[in-house]
Amino acid sequence: MSSEILFAWIYLPQAHEPVVAGRLDVIRYSTGTVGQFTYGKSYLGRADAIPLDPVALPLGTSAVNLVTLNGLPGSILDSCSDKWGIKVIDRIEGTKEYPVCYLLMNDPGRAGALAFSTGAEIKPVELHSREFTLPELLLAAEGVEANRHVDPELLRALHPGTGGARPKCNITDDDGVWIAKFPSINDEGIVSIPRLEHATMQLGQLCGIRTAMTRIENIGGKDVCFVKRFDRIVDNRSGKREVFRKAFLSARTVFYADPAFQSVGTGSYGRLARWMQQRYGCPSGQRHELYRRMVFNVAVRNSDDHELNHGLVHRAKENFELAPAFDIVPVLTRHKVHHHALLIGNSAAGTVENLLSNANAFGLEHDEAGAIIADIESVIENNWRDVFYEAGFGDEDFRKIENIFSPIPQDESISRTGI
Ligand SMILES: Nc1ncnc2c1ncn2[C@@H]1O[C@H](COP(=O)(O)OP(=O)(O)OP(=O)(O)O)[C@@H](O)[C@H]1O
Ligand SMILES: [Mg+2]
Repeated sequence: MSSEILFAWIYLPQAHEPVVAGRLDVIRYSTGTVGQFTYGKSYLGRADAIPLDPVALPLGTSAVNLVTLNGLPGSILDSCSDKWGIKVIDRIEGTKEYPVCYLLMNDPGRAGALAFSTGAEIKPVELHSREFTLPELLLAAEGVEANRHVDPELLRALHPGTGGARPKCNITDDDGVWIAKFPSINDEGIVSIPRLEHATMQLGQLCGIRTAMTRIENIGGKDVCFVKRFDRIVDNRSGKREVFRKAFLSARTVFYADPAFQSVGTGSYGRLARWMQQRYGCPSGQRHELYRRMVFNVAVRNSDDHELNHGLVHRAKENFELAPAFDIVPVLTRHKVHHHALLIGNSAAGTVENLLSNANAFGLEHDEAGAIIADIESVIENNWRDVFYEAGFGDEDFRKIENIFSPIPQDESISRTGI
């Protein structure tokens, strides 16, 4: 048996410094790992305390036992580096014990408002580095992917706390904190993936999807898609730039907050719609919003719409709201029917029949759901060429991507093989 202790700190709304919220004991037995989380008395005594997760970790004096997600609360695991960040941190420090050691890196790029230390008196120290230019950061990210030597200070400047698998870093300016998403050296080169992401997010806005703001820049011949962070607020009012944080919970955290979810295993849009409203206080209209988002993902063949590509941001007290849509990138593989990472209705199939099969989970009648599908299909059909042209795609690219925008297949009765 071995155990680790992690103190979770939180940047409360508008706070410059984190306060200690609670303690997590992670105990590894030969049969599995169990976590135990307890809020600190001083935190519980604060009038402005907010729960790390109002469902899995409600404010209270009792210790909470956690047996899923390797004994970690989803809210804490959301702060951890993912594939890309782990690769970068391993280059700085060598391979570490996942996830506790990666959480203790306290990189400012991590999601949400948490920070970590090994003691209640030991304040988390944020990873820092001097500033580098975007061409330097882009080259460093390529160096990581290509296994070339990269200066450790540059590696830290890549902000390995931000999740996801693709190369990226964070850039702060007076408008906000942006995730700069780079091309990967492993991209197949059919079209520029950062430009595809930017254009698809623009098209989403036209379809009534509330997306994170994006912009595209060409840095030394390479496309970089900048995505504005919704869990950071930049305030310039005092004359000096201040960055505040907002708590974030992924859809994975929403699902795993229910101990029974372990036996279900696969998340669904319908479950997220119901639970975000019933359990996390999201406004009821956001169930319709999520439906629209799901239809858009099906329409543009974004089948990589997994549980870390949706989330909630903190609103007030114990209440959260659906975060703006992010990471919407069409999958370029041609299939008659795409199968999504989250269940759409009765199955994961991206078909009209399946989109209509569970509309009531989103508070929609069958006809209302049908009208949303028809609306999105017509906005896409009438506008995708203009939007993509504006985003810098040319005739040659159009031929490579036009299959993305073919009508949503009606049902699965058609062949499942590629065309
Ligand atoms: N606009 C945003 N504001 C705040 N956090 C964000 C934003 N966009 C992404 N994130 C966070 O960063 C993580 C990685 O971002 P993103 O999903 O865009 O990267 P990716 O590498 O393309 O992911 P994947 O591994 O799914 O392909 C997300 O899972 C989410 O936690
Ligand atoms: Mg992602």
